[in-house]
Amino acid sequence: MKINGSTLTCGLIGNPVEHTLSPVIHNYLAEIENRNLVYVPFQVENNRIKEAVEGAYALNIHGLNITVPYKSAVIPCLAEMDRLAENIGAVNTLVRTQKGYKGFNTDMPGLFRAMETENYTIKGESIILLGAGGAARAVAMLCMEQEAKEIFILNRSVEKAMAVAEEVNGIYKENRIIPMALSDYRKLLDRKYLAIQATSVGLSPNVEDVVISEEAFYDKIETAVDLIYNPYETRFMSMVKAHGGRAMNGLKMLLYQGIIAYELWNDVKISEKTAKEILIRMKEELKIHE
Ligand code: ATR
Repeated sequence: MKINGSTLTCGLIGNPVEHTLSPVIHNYLAEIENRNLVYVPFQVENNRIKEAVEGAYALNIHGLNITVPYKSAVIPCLAEMDRLAENIGAVNTLVRTQKGYKGFNTDMPGLFRAMETENYTIKGESIILLGAGGAARAVAMLCMEQEAKEIFILNRSVEKAMAVAEEVNGIYKENRIIPMALSDYRKLLDRKYLAIQATSVGLSPNVEDVVISEEAFYDKIETAVDLIYNPYETRFMSMVKAHGGRAMNGLKMLLYQGIIAYELWNDVKISEKTAKEILIRMKEELKIHE
């Protein structure tokens, strides 16, 4: 890589940032596209997000990703918001404009593109969504946008599932989201559902944990996505597979959220061939050997 007076800088703002895979995605893309761009992590402490965003703009930073804990806190620092990001209430990508940065959410479009590459369909499907936190709320929004038939939100605290359902149904002026307690899965028809696991349960090092451990639940699942990618196969995914279903993890979501951010920053379209090459690099970085 040759850095000179015209090198554009992009980066990631968060805390912590040292385990991020985003530099692998963006620096590789810049390299193969022969683009004079570098991507670096910026650790921002003590809620200094406003100063960080203003400083980045003043320094002519070309584009930014935002991660924990600033995905919502960054919103008041922006000149403009994309509609989906506004509905979700979380921003992970800033695109430079004349007035300041515009906020986007590429996590959900990233999940959608990842699912497409695995031939998963949302449109017209009956979906079981596990969880009612920030991630699950965003997935609920994606399912509404992509015209799922119905979305059953199953959560440990049913009040939180009810709150998410009310809010998201309200935004879309429809009632396709149905909140339930975890044990209510028994009330679901014996149909084959698409299940999306959007809790932190099963994340390394707690790899034996799973939100629902009853075998009967897994008989109802045809296809599944776990947003977790560490471990590479969660217990949830293994149980789905053991009952004849198909399961994918969240690594491709991470890949495509990065690719979509890069596409927004540089006004390009990245090919599937390139996406596959980056995925290989990400797996190398994570020391995953399939
Ligand atoms: P995020 O922003 O990543 O979604 P979050 O807002 O803290 O994180 O949400 C975590 C989700 O994981 C919630 O749905 C939570 O269930 P509760 O709302 O009942 O807390 C779920 N979760 C976390 N630990 C869990 C556990 N041991 N069993 C079941 N659900 C769990």
